[in-house]
Amino acid sequence: MSKVAVITGAAGGIGFATSIELLKAGHLVYLIDRQETKLDAIPEELRDNARAVVLDLAHSDQIDSVMRTILSAHERVDILVNNAGMTIKGKDGKPQSILDADEASFEQMMRVNVLAMMLMTQKVLPGMQQARWGRIVNVASLAGRSKSIVSGPLYMMSKAAVLGLTRCTAAEMGPFGITCNAVAPGRVLSPMTENAAPGVNESYAIQIPVRRIGEPIEVAGAIAYLCSDIAGFTNGAVIDINGGFFMS
Ligand SMILES: NC(=O)c1ccc[n+]([C@@H]2O[C@H](COP(=O)([O-])OP(=O)(O)OC[C@H]3O[C@@H](n4cnc5c(N)ncnc54)[C@H](O)[C@@H]3O)[C@@H](O)[C@H]2O)c1
Repeated sequence: MSKVAVITGAAGGIGFATSIELLKAGHLVYLIDRQETKLDAIPEELRDNARAVVLDLAHSDQIDSVMRTILSAHERVDILVNNAGMTIKGKDGKPQSILDADEASFEQMMRVNVLAMMLMTQKVLPGMQQARWGRIVNVASLAGRSKSIVSGPLYMMSKAAVLGLTRCTAAEMGPFGITCNAVAPGRVLSPMTENAAPGVNESYAIQIPVRRIGEPIEVAGAIAYLCSDIAGFTNGAVIDINGGFFMS
């Protein structure tokens, strides 16, 4: 059945690929990003159900006003994919050192990668509770599951926090028919990673059992499953999507 879905960080990469999958499933999809989302990149037959919204998740007042508008246009949001995320590079584009991580960048990273997810979740939960159905998927990272060779300390901390948010939401909201799960992608070719320093993606790929980095659709497919009706018994899970680089 057609549902209302909201996805953050939808302008490109994993978020855009996920939006296409949710549109294919017949849902009305709000594509939220701080950048303009190019709706004409969506196949024409799916475009009618796509709505693009510009929102900078670093600003909670913008989250308030956008979500108020969406929630006043529909009874509720049924599906939330908290996908937007940011990284901070250290000197010369290398991963930041723990010794260089500072208060301002900690606050910026946690605000976008964690606090915004919590606030977005809080906005959609009352309607889902009333409907006794909801799907929330948080995009974490391999960097929150294990060590990361590319991400730096603040990103690692923020993605570990996403897993905590996922588990507490899953435990508390399960009785209402609301599931909350996470995906933890390894290296995936997207706007976030395609401009890495020369050789980084190649040297990463040779360490992965499948000998390549991932494609956004390979994460989007898992997210779309977690948003579906038949995923109702999957709750509080973390799906590792990393070509076998990390096996728990
Ligand atoms: N690409 C990878 O290798 C990889 C690996 C693990 C996890 N991830 C995670 O996957 C998610 C999607 O990343 P991606 O790889 O598709 O990269 P991406 O850069 O294409 O996507 C991130 C999107 O989030 C948006 N965004 C960032 N800050 C925002 C803000 N303040 N407000 C609104 N939108 C904002 C960006 O504009 C961008 O469109 C992120 O959470 C990322 O941390 C990516």
